[in-house]
Amino acid sequence: MKGVVLAAGKGSRLYPVTHHVPKPLLPICNRMTMEYAFDQLRDCGVKEVCVVVGSNEPQVRAALGDGSQFNLALSYVKQTEPKGLAHAVGFAKEFVAGDSFILYLGDAVYSQPLRPFVDKFRQSGCANLNLVKEVADPSRFGVANVSGDRITRLVEKPKNPESNLAMAGMYVFGPKIWDVLPNLQPSGRGEYEITDAIQILVDQGETVLAGKYEGEWFDTGTLDSFLETSGHLCKGGSLIGEGAVVNAEVGENVVIGATAQVTATSLSDCVILPGSKVTVTGQVAHSLLGGHVESKECVNVVAFNDERGP
Ligand code: G1P
Repeated sequence: MKGVVLAAGKGSRLYPVTHHVPKPLLPICNRMTMEYAFDQLRDCGVKEVCVVVGSNEPQVRAALGDGSQFNLALSYVKQTEPKGLAHAVGFAKEFVAGDSFILYLGDAVYSQPLRPFVDKFRQSGCANLNLVKEVADPSRFGVANVSGDRITRLVEKPKNPESNLAMAGMYVFGPKIWDVLPNLQPSGRGEYEITDAIQILVDQGETVLAGKYEGEWFDTGTLDSFLETSGHLCKGGSLIGEGAVVNAEVGENVVIGATAQVTATSLSDCVILPGSKVTVTGQVAHSLLGGHVESKECVNVVAFNDERGP
């Protein structure tokens, strides 16, 4: 079993911070987001992981290296254009080399172990198993119709969802997926959708299973979800990195990176990146800050100003 982690996205919903720090490297609770993916993959018995990068390649390679620091063997492939998840997976074909693999969205964080789902894939001999989760707003996701534990139909972001089971960002595939990818057509949003690829497996009569995940699932891509993930992983507490100097009242869910210098009246529900210099005369709340930030107040702000950076 190998691992393929998709990390090519630009993280545009966290601009300008992700202009400076690629989203997969953003610290959550002072660990890189990708480290949570690596934890899960190792726990599933994976030893070799291919990271699909994009224009963030140099920074991602520099930070993650050959993977030895994570007890994994890492390799990298570059998705040349952002054309969807199925397009990204295609670049990992040579790496997977006929093995089974876990496809993992690099910005997903799960509170519960995924190993039981991978075990189920192994034991069942199915062509593909997908993590699904009941959600309140299925039209934002790929949506699965399920009969027993088999997926019977999949629709990407349906206007009128027929079920509340969202495709939850972790997929386990056997080699049959490679026959399907070359026949895919772009979707309405112009992307090669992994949901469409899986639908073809279903149409071909392959066994495609749903693994119903009951734990918490975070997608770290927006300010709200990033801070929610941070709050969950830090259990609402505060975490102040080594060498950081903080001159402020520190409230709940505050993470300050190593060597940051922070002055404000109060800090709550915020992440301040390592090495930042933040000087705020009022409060910092519900914000993600990096570089040199000077302001009266930061509420609901994503900011990174490196004009006078170190
Ligand atoms: C992608 C998939 C979708 C899945 C979602 C999970 O959507 O296309 O099926 O439910 O990830 O996060 P995207 O994030 O590309 O909109």
